[in-house]
Amino acid sequence: MSLAKEIERRKTFAIVSHPDAGKTTLTEKLLLFGGAIQVAGAVKSNKIKKSATSDFMDIERQRGISVASSVMGFEYADRKIIILDTPGHKDFAEDTFRTLTAADSVIVVIDVAKGVESQTEKLVEVCRMRKTPIIVFVNKLDRVGKDAFELMDEVEQKLGLTVQPMTWPIGMGQDFKGVYNIEEKNIRLFSAHGKQTEEDTIEITDLADAQLDDLVGKNAADELREEVETVDGVYPKFDQQEYLDGDISPVFFGSAINNFGVKELLDRFVQIAPGPLPRETEERIVKPNEEKFSGFVFKIHANMDPKHRDRIAFVRICSGTFERNTNYLHVRNEKKMKFSSPTAFMASKKSVIDAAYPGDVVGLHDTGNFKIGDGLTMGEKLHFKGIPSFSPEQFRYIDNANPLKSKQLAKGIDQLMDEGVAQLFIRQLNNRKIIGTVGALQFDVIQYRLEHEYGASCTYEPLNLHKAAWISCEEEDVLREFEKRYARLMAKDKEGRPVLLAESSFALQQAQDNFEKVSFHFTSEF
Ligand code: G4P
Repeated sequence: MSLAKEIERRKTFAIVSHPDAGKTTLTEKLLLFGGAIQVAGAVKSNKIKKSATSDFMDIERQRGISVASSVMGFEYADRKIIILDTPGHKDFAEDTFRTLTAADSVIVVIDVAKGVESQTEKLVEVCRMRKTPIIVFVNKLDRVGKDAFELMDEVEQKLGLTVQPMTWPIGMGQDFKGVYNIEEKNIRLFSAHGKQTEEDTIEITDLADAQLDDLVGKNAADELREEVETVDGVYPKFDQQEYLDGDISPVFFGSAINNFGVKELLDRFVQIAPGPLPRETEERIVKPNEEKFSGFVFKIHANMDPKHRDRIAFVRICSGTFERNTNYLHVRNEKKMKFSSPTAFMASKKSVIDAAYPGDVVGLHDTGNFKIGDGLTMGEKLHFKGIPSFSPEQFRYIDNANPLKSKQLAKGIDQLMDEGVAQLFIRQLNNRKIIGTVGALQFDVIQYRLEHEYGASCTYEPLNLHKAAWISCEEEDVLREFEKRYARLMAKDKEGRPVLLAESSFALQQAQDNFEKVSFHFTSEF
């Protein structure tokens, strides 16, 4: 198959949601359609969840939250669909942001009862900034929830999206009858546990048809007629380009656990979602159809196989064809590297591949060479953009609790930071190591992993800081003056860049006012 055909075939997207909205359940149902996992119907999703999908780390199982993102590919309708799973937990938002850089579009799952929740707001904001095409799936229609119009308003207001309903629910909860497909003008009748067949889809070209009353009851039929009329009046016709430009978001309704509305979503997704998109680098825009391979690391995962202490760097292919056993340039290290066993992720299975194409994600065995954001090319020095570290908001001193294991501790901290678990700062005042994170949970993760993967143990000492800001200034002497003035609060990040550890928002503001020529940055990408 030609490169162009391979590119055309691929759809790489991320599913995001607030925890518990149904992201895992939806992912599983999508995989079922792709034949990537075989489970009869919607049996015990809990069991599938715990074994078949994204949970690689013990700690995840312990905590019951999807700590790490993972990749699941499957074939459907002659397409290769690649789902990038994202952790819903807020403490791992940074991991999710990075995963979004590897996706070409996003499906947002919303719980019909809870509506738009805080985590979803933050994630969608990032997508909006990047103009990532977004599809919304309103889940759990088998439960009583918010009125569909109210929900559409909430999505528009809280997420800043312009919505375009593609299907419309008929009732909800106990009275959930099914969904009306606005474009195709047909009705799919609901029965619990995914027992729908093709025959449950009924053409209703005219909603005035009395057949509708027989199917769903007079009240529900009248309500649907009224609502669809309003929908037609309020929302414009679906325009694919507007969706691809990130200007409108198609909305689907369903119940993932009952496998209802999922196929409609998948079928339409396959038709409208973007294929591999160009990627920005500091040097230029990289297009997928360029002959020469390029890609970047968006995630590093340790301990995929507890028997070996290995790390896997997840590389998103951006252009050309990636080939096994071929020399590529690791741009940051200026080193040639080749990979004898690159893996592709098809659902829960890993397999070694010979070639990969734009949109694909390959896992490369890593002995500690990679950092998040690293680029691989055929020689060109490309630095991929949009993979920043965010200014952490929680800080603790980290100390060695076992003097015999100080080497292991140093190595462990070093590698965990490269993975992007947290950020390390060295405080100039006392030369002590400070770990900065976005959420509190990471401290537990770090402690657990240092112990289980590196045989090292650490203790923390609380540190009351407000924010870390990267500092830069064109004028060397002003920068030196600044560093002298705030010597007590200055630190260096892992790359040796100066960072101000502000104790309060007031102190930060004061520093900004005192030194107008100095720039304060809240992401590492500046
Ligand atoms: P997440 O990945 O977004 O965190 O959500 P997940 O899929 O784990 O779903 C959260 C809970 O919501 C699960 O229940 C799941 O079964 C349930 N759920 C998902 N889709 C639907 C739906 O369409 N309707 C209803 N009523 N529930 C749904 P749980 O009790 O936490 O776990 P489990 O024991 O049922 O697996």
